[in-house]
Amino acid sequence: MTRSETAALYPAHLATLEMRAAEALRRCQRDHLVVPSGTLHLRAFDDLEYPYAVNPQFKAWLPLTDAPGSWLVVTPGRRPKLVFLQPQDYWHAVPDAPSGYWAEQFEIAVIRNPEDALAQLPADASRCAILGEAQSALGDFVPDNPPEAIAYLEYHRAFKTPYEIAMMAAANRTAVRGHRAALRAFRAGSGEFGIHLAYCQATGQDVNALPYGNIIALNRHAAILHYMTQERLPPKSLRSFLIDAGADHGGYAADVTRTYSAQDDDFAALIAAVDSAQQSLAARVRPGLDYRQLHLDAHLALAGVLREAGVLRVGAEEAVARGVSRAFFPHGLGHGIGLQVHDVAGFAASDAGGTLDKPDGHPFLRLTRTLEPGMVVTIEPGVYFIDMLLDQIKADGCADAVDWDRVEDFRPCGGIRIEDDVACTEDAPINLTREAFAEG
Ligand code: GLY
Ligand code: MN
Repeated sequence: MTRSETAALYPAHLATLEMRAAEALRRCQRDHLVVPSGTLHLRAFDDLEYPYAVNPQFKAWLPLTDAPGSWLVVTPGRRPKLVFLQPQDYWHAVPDAPSGYWAEQFEIAVIRNPEDALAQLPADASRCAILGEAQSALGDFVPDNPPEAIAYLEYHRAFKTPYEIAMMAAANRTAVRGHRAALRAFRAGSGEFGIHLAYCQATGQDVNALPYGNIIALNRHAAILHYMTQERLPPKSLRSFLIDAGADHGGYAADVTRTYSAQDDDFAALIAAVDSAQQSLAARVRPGLDYRQLHLDAHLALAGVLREAGVLRVGAEEAVARGVSRAFFPHGLGHGIGLQVHDVAGFAASDAGGTLDKPDGHPFLRLTRTLEPGMVVTIEPGVYFIDMLLDQIKADGCADAVDWDRVEDFRPCGGIRIEDDVACTEDAPINLTREAFAEG
């Protein structure tokens, strides 16, 4: 989809958001939704600031991710208003004046000082639902985040509009560019830091722009689920490479993981088997499927992969029943994704609140909702050889279930994770990540 085709989807997206805002306001009995973009945070005992991170409730409305001190006012039946801070400042780069496909949909007031926003906000702050963090308070406009409004908006944010799906497809295309460059760097013998730099160069995104810190793990480091250290020098011998790295597009995230073997060996075969299981799971992203069931089925599928590879000495059902699969696959199958890489409301029972519990023994699952059209979820099964968890198998009296010599074959390679972003539709799912890889 081209940029102008994505732009053409924006008015309908905005109309959906306006309908949701009207209902959220009805539920909390206010007249206006007021959303600050957020402000910079000072580091402790310092005059330097942390990198700016926009309020997700703000970027839900417009692809403006670098405009601190701005405000959005949504009043049902009126054009939404953007109060845009464009300071007169010769110390820092000033944000460009709003322009582009979305700008014409807003009434825009440009202000030069943060406090000038007050004159542009509704007259009576008590009639406003103010969504933001405490630090954004300005005069009487103190964020109060009415729970009824937040619960409603966050629940429905799981259902992406066609515009949002197009934005996430674009984020995936950028991430795939990075993944290709990273693989070239790995094959050329770069270390973790060098691969990270190749990724940033290819995506045009640095640590502040990326939706999460890159996980670039060589050899044993792939057994650390959120390994972010990035050794500066290449290891003496290269065995394996796990890369979990995403990209941002106008405030929307991609989250993509691939694993490679340095050789055409048994580890490469194990990667291929996990990849095949991952694709089968991704193909099941259909309306009506409880994501918890997909997570539990992933345990069975991965235990089957490990049995086939000779790591398990018992059948897949027995390995799952005895809890052995949890030592090899110790995280959730995935999560909702959108404006945030781990999207909000993963456990929401309804748009009025309530929680859908995780299955017993699966504390790290981040999504317990039933899939519906418009949801975008990650599917990221993995198998790892983590010493602490391998010891736990023994402590639990399950050592007989594992071929420990076979574990030693794979241990130096750390682990495997394969992750795609998959959109649920009325029909077959759209695998945004595989489509981006297929585009070449
Ligand atoms: N990509 C990192 C995560 O999903 O936790
Ligand atoms: Mn993920």
